Amino acid sequence: MREQTASWIADAAGATLHRDARPGPNDPPGPTAVEIDSRQAGPGALFVGIPGERTDGGRFAADVLTAGAWGVLVRREHAAAAEAVDGGVILLHEDPVAALGELARAWRRQLGAVVVGITGSVGKTSTKDLLTGIVAPHRRTIATAGNYNTEIGLPLTVLGAPAGTEVMILEMAMRGSGQIAELARIAEPDVGVVTNVAPVHVELLGSIEGVAAAKAELLHGLPPGGTAIIPAGEPLLDAHRPTGVTVVTVGEGGTADPVPEALTLADDVPLTVRRNLPAAVAAARAVGIEPTGSVSPTISAMRGQRLHLAGDIVVVVDCYNANPMSTSAALDDLAASASGRRVAVLGDMLELGPDELRFHAELGAHAREAGVEVLVAVGPLSRHTGTGFGGAVHWVATAAEAARLVPTLLEPGDTVLLKASRGIGLERVADALATTGADA
Ligand SMILES: Nc1ncnc2c1ncn2[C@@H]1O[C@H](COP(=O)(O)OP(=O)(O)OP(=O)(O)O)[C@@H](O)[C@H]1O
Ligand SMILES: [Mg+2]
Repeated sequence: MREQTASWIADAAGATLHRDARPGPNDPPGPTAVEIDSRQAGPGALFVGIPGERTDGGRFAADVLTAGAWGVLVRREHAAAAEAVDGGVILLHEDPVAALGELARAWRRQLGAVVVGITGSVGKTSTKDLLTGIVAPHRRTIATAGNYNTEIGLPLTVLGAPAGTEVMILEMAMRGSGQIAELARIAEPDVGVVTNVAPVHVELLGSIEGVAAAKAELLHGLPPGGTAIIPAGEPLLDAHRPTGVTVVTVGEGGTADPVPEALTLADDVPLTVRRNLPAAVAAARAVGIEPTGSVSPTISAMRGQRLHLAGDIVVVVDCYNANPMSTSAALDDLAASASGRRVAVLGDMLELGPDELRFHAELGAHAREAGVEVLVAVGPLSRHTGTGFGGAVHWVATAAEAARLVPTLLEPGDTVLLKASRGIGLERVADALATTGADA
């Protein structure tokens, strides 16, 4: 946004331009970056002071102006403190998060890039990573970094897009009803991908139908002529099929053209990530790119990376997120890829709603079917995983205990799956294994 003036930014954000500032002779009229962390808001940045649970970011307005920020966007109560510092633009808005969203939408329109929104219960980040790997060699592309997929992270991603960006790939997270609609309102996606609908965040939405309806908000946010990419044979989405857009269904029996044989993924792309390729290919085509050749996407951490330890022990580090869908898939991958014993370290799957105990018991049964020989269950809910498994189980209450136990259980040739909700912190087990047995 360096070429945009303060008054353009104020209009775009719906904010009051409380103080304008003349840029230096060699400075661009607009900010070089938009930041919400005052420590990152260096010279040239626009700092947006967001009221949080612990502190109100607006309190740092004077600090960032002193440090040479281009300007601040804060609530009126912080105006006086900001004014006390000479220099820098002061923009006022009573709801800085809303202003951030408005500004992002204006910038998205200014750029005129093709926008792909990705939501779904699991596989959003994986699909985003694959799609970015396919598209980036052909178009100037920006994509969500890490998990910047909320009403704050998404606008920051959009605002970070430089002029000339041709494709924006945006992950959209859902915590409750209406959130995806809001993200779609900001991003105005041309292409919407719903990876799948699974019992994740059921606690917030009441039922799996509620989850489907929330994901479908993305599809209803598409413009006429846009493209919706949804899983084939997902009855939960039937009621939500958008009209006036092209609907592509992905997977068995779907309308999507097959993944081209000429497309190959680098060997280090984990199995759980690979299964999102059909949706990523469909999205690439919607953007106008026919995928081909070898693709080496950058895969976000903890999504099934393999750690090779001494004694041919392989550890699959998949402890970013867990629910019945992703954990069953990970067990199937374990079954398919292990050459020696199958060891599963399964922690609690959180936020599953009233059926959580049943889901854990079913997972245990699935682990047995997948030929797991050693099961370590971690956390209170996982006692039920153990019950469903039916055989000998090592149960521990915490990841810290698991980190002590697991290294003592392993034998050469084992393949070890680490899988739990993020809140369990199962990567501690990976750390423990890496320090005790890293292969040189
Ligand atoms: N299509 C899929 N089917 C089943 N499991 C999957 C699929 N894609 C990814 N996973 C699993 O789900 C985990 C989370 O994947 P990913 O980070 O891509 O999902 P996400 O939807 O972005 O999650 P979050 O809601 O936390 O942002 C991965 O570690 C992987 O094991
Ligand atoms: Mg994600």
